[in-house]
Amino acid sequence: MTKDVFEKVMQDFEGDPADLIPVLQRAQKTEGYVSTDAVGRIARWLKVSEHEIYGVATFYSQFRFHPPGNHHIKACLGTACHVQGGEQMLFVLQRRLGISPGETSSDKEYDLERVACLGCCALAPVVTIDETTYGQMSVLKLQRLLDEREND
Ligand code: FES
Repeated sequence: MTKDVFEKVMQDFEGDPADLIPVLQRAQKTEGYVSTDAVGRIARWLKVSEHEIYGVATFYSQFRFHPPGNHHIKACLGTACHVQGGEQMLFVLQRRLGISPGETSSDKEYDLERVACLGCCALAPVVTIDETTYGQMSVLKLQRLLDEREND
C-alpha cells in the first residue's frame, strides 16, 4: 500500500484507535487483503502495536492476510456439512492446493476459506468455487472437479 493509497483509505477517519475494525475493513477492501505494510501504517497512525492489530484482526474471520487468488474456494464446515464429511473436503483442498484456510496457492490461482454455513445445508457437504456451488460432494467428486479445472 503506497502512502497515497493509504491516505485515501484513511481520509474518512480521524485516527481514533476505536476505529480499528472499520479501518482494517477499508484497507482490505482497497487491497483485497490486509497487507503487512498496511498493518504497519495503521499501527503508527492509530498509535497501537502491530501485535494488537493482529490480535484483533485474527479474531474476525473476515480479515485475510494474503493476497487473494484468481479463484476463491469456500469449504463449508457448518454443522450439516461437518456431519456429512466437510472436514474431508477441506483436507483434500488443503492437500491439493498446498495451503491452509486464509492462504493463497503459490501459483496465485486459488485462495481457500473455511466458512460456517453457505445457506444450502440440504446440499451438504458443500464447496464453492467463485460463484458456483458444488453440493453433495465426496472426496472423489472433489478430486475430479480439481482435476478438470487443472486440465482446462
Ligand atoms: S452447513 Fe454447510 S451449507 Fe449450511
